[in-house]
Amino acid sequence: MRKFTHDLIERNIGLMLVLVILTISVGGLVEIVPLFFQKSTTQAVQGVKPYSALQLAGRDVYLREGCYGCHSQMIRPFRAETERYGHYSVAGESVYDHPFQWGSKRTGPDLARVGGRYSDTWHRDHLMDPRAVVPESNMPSYSWLAKANVDAQGIAPRMRAMRTLGVPYTEEEISSSAADVTGKTEMDALIAYLQVLGTAIKNKN
Ligand code: HEC
Repeated sequence: MRKFTHDLIERNIGLMLVLVILTISVGGLVEIVPLFFQKSTTQAVQGVKPYSALQLAGRDVYLREGCYGCHSQMIRPFRAETERYGHYSVAGESVYDHPFQWGSKRTGPDLARVGGRYSDTWHRDHLMDPRAVVPESNMPSYSWLAKANVDAQGIAPRMRAMRTLGVPYTEEEISSSAADVTGKTEMDALIAYLQVLGTAIKNKN
């Protein structure tokens, strides 16, 4: 009598497919499902605050201009990365990021901990003309951002939208948002956003 051996599976592609799918599904579920319930992936790291109205407006500029096409925001837990960028990224830092900007394309450096690394003036000079501060840079200039005003009326609805995604904005924060960004340029907003990135977990180097 033939026993149920591996031989049987190897000769029956249908059975093999079913078993492969079953194995991958169970393995996948075991890896993925706990992430939805673990505090380390669902709760904000201490010190991570929702973006202010100005920072949120800056984040929208970041998305609109496609900065993510050249910059990731995720430091991997490898020595070469942590020596260069600082503490590796942890999930709890991104809980208020919708959508998150981890990315993987690095034409330019990772920006997950760029907050506080340079002065506001440096960022302004760099965004106006990257080659003025880094001669070999191939980053485009974003000088028009200094002339464009932040859409002050548009920010409250965007904060409300974030609230539906779980970002704990208060009514006061939302109602004062227009005043908070009035008179600010998109350049100011983008710099405010860059300066807060990764600052909840202090750089180790
Ligand atoms: C075509 C690719 C490209 C795009 C698009 C791009 N960058 Fe860059 N970025 C670079 C490169 C290359 C560098 C490294 C040279 C330099 O500092 O200019 C850099 C450097 C930077 C730095 C300095 C990082 C550090 O640690 O020294 C910041 C901040 C930055 N970019 C922000 C932005 C923002 C904000 C946007 C979108 C408005 C943007 N970049 C779009 C390629 C790009």
